Amino acid sequence: MANKEVYSKITTHVLQEMKLKGEKIAMLTAYDFSMARLLDEAGIEVILVGDSASNVMAGHKTTVPITLNDMIYHASSVMRAVSRALVVVDLPFGTYQGDSLEALHSAIRIMKEAGANAVKMEGGIEIVDSVKRILSAGIPVIGHLGLTPQSIHKFGTYVVRATEENEAKKLVEDALVLEKAGCFGIVLEKIPAKLATEVTQKVKIPTIGIGAGNGVDGQVLVLHDMLGITQKFSPRFLRRYHNLSEEIKGSVQTYIEDVKSVSFPNDREQY
Ligand code: KIV
Repeated sequence: MANKEVYSKITTHVLQEMKLKGEKIAMLTAYDFSMARLLDEAGIEVILVGDSASNVMAGHKTTVPITLNDMIYHASSVMRAVSRALVVVDLPFGTYQGDSLEALHSAIRIMKEAGANAVKMEGGIEIVDSVKRILSAGIPVIGHLGLTPQSIHKFGTYVVRATEENEAKKLVEDALVLEKAGCFGIVLEKIPAKLATEVTQKVKIPTIGIGAGNGVDGQVLVLHDMLGITQKFSPRFLRRYHNLSEEIKGSVQTYIEDVKSVSFPNDREQY
């Protein structure tokens, strides 16, 4: 089993080694210093500064509005906390799809201004020129296929992707294209478990699933979902490890009562 002693610092090469050894990779999102520090101390291998920050931090309905400056702010906060985990940062919508030079500039800003370790990009063959240009500058890239939330306005819904043969075939081809381009891994979101297993067996780079079954090389969840901070989002793939929303509300209500009843602060809590 992988553990903190064996891997003192997680790199893309370590992830590759883990796939070869059949050791599962654990990845979670984080967007701020305090949470990132807890995740790193707990031994998480990969921290994703996801553009899901658009939803869980900024309250937007989709990941579309978040900006490159927003992502750099979140990523810089995470980088100040982390000493062991590999930190991957999402390139946000509109910063890499149209033009490979613009994509390169966006990725360089994330690497230079935030000090990130790698970037993540959504899409297959359509974005491969941008992927290659970023890789040619020495910046590690992880792909993202299946349900790619930046395309929500095209999909129209967050249902499982690639259930039809044509879309499944394209997904496998896209995975091979991303591997050939030089990506160090691929995130597979909300696709049938059988298809995710097939992709995982076909590519030599690690696959990280979210709603993609357990035949992949690792798993990722949005931190606020798995801790139960978000309340209404309950897809089948989400396992909640905590009910923090109730705990936080309970603590805040107790604090309000203590303030109103003047039981806080007590004699030992003042100077
Ligand atoms: O932004 C994000 O949190 C993600 C994960 C859902 C994979 O892309």
